Amino acid sequence: MKLAISGASGKTGYRIAEEAIKSGYDVKLLLRQNSEINENLRKCDSSIIALNQPKSIDNAIKGYDALIIATGARPSIDLTGPARVDALGVKSQILSCHRTGVKRIILVSSLCAGRWIHPLNLFGLILIWKRVGERALEESGLDWTIIRPGGLSESEEELDKQAILYSGPDVQQDAYIPRRLLARSCIEALKTPESINRILEVTSDISIRAVTMKEAIADIYAIST
Ligand SMILES: NC(=O)c1ccc[n+]([C@@H]2O[C@H](COP(=O)([O-])OP(=O)(O)OC[C@H]3O[C@@H](n4cnc5c(N)ncnc54)[C@H](OP(=O)(O)O)[C@@H]3O)[C@@H](O)[C@H]2O)c1
Repeated sequence: MKLAISGASGKTGYRIAEEAIKSGYDVKLLLRQNSEINENLRKCDSSIIALNQPKSIDNAIKGYDALIIATGARPSIDLTGPARVDALGVKSQILSCHRTGVKRIILVSSLCAGRWIHPLNLFGLILIWKRVGERALEESGLDWTIIRPGGLSESEEELDKQAILYSGPDVQQDAYIPRRLLARSCIEALKTPESINRILEVTSDISIRAVTMKEAIADIYAIST
């Protein structure tokens, strides 16, 4: 499968790329001018895109089977970032998938997307704009999965002792997950058709039993496996 990953220079995006390569996907990194990428991804195929230049996205993803969107506004004093990147930038990538025939999209969003009253909204109402991006994907008619992670950590320690806690939308509020496990869950979503047209919240803990995404979805939505 040919997989494009936007935001691939980000702390989650580069891990998604690493996990995708490990799983045998033919990966392309979607970057912007001046994005800095990890040393070990330098040999990967890549394209420069601008979220406000639709043709640049079309040219980059044409011929690809799937797109994982891991772009996200970087913390900044410019409070328009979330609207530009997490809403308009996501919409722009969805429209490009329509034009170019890319059918499968995974979007990295956030726990609490859509909430008005939340401290994270001090950064440009980010949770509201994230929900606008999500809604555009839900209404796209594409095969989508929205992954809403809790607070992201850089820790790569003892990952094998942790398991992912999955839930449907608007259940979890304030737990964390290492970016590596989030990256793995994006790849697992690609391999799990049951995740299509689902919003999945993901956090992690050492005290819970590990289940596959497919099992979690069956449990959450009470459908037979
Ligand atoms: N941090 C948290 O605790 C947390 C919690 C829940 C959800 N999330 C969400 O999870 C996702 C990944 O977060 P992260 O902290 O791992 O990401 P990150 O390191 O901040 O990376 C963000 C990525 O988005 C790209 N990007 C930003 N603005 C862009 C633009 N205008 N055009 C094109 N690309 C742009 C960046 O490119 P450059 O490298 O060129 O800047 C980078 O590749 C984000 O959507 C974030 O909102 C984060």
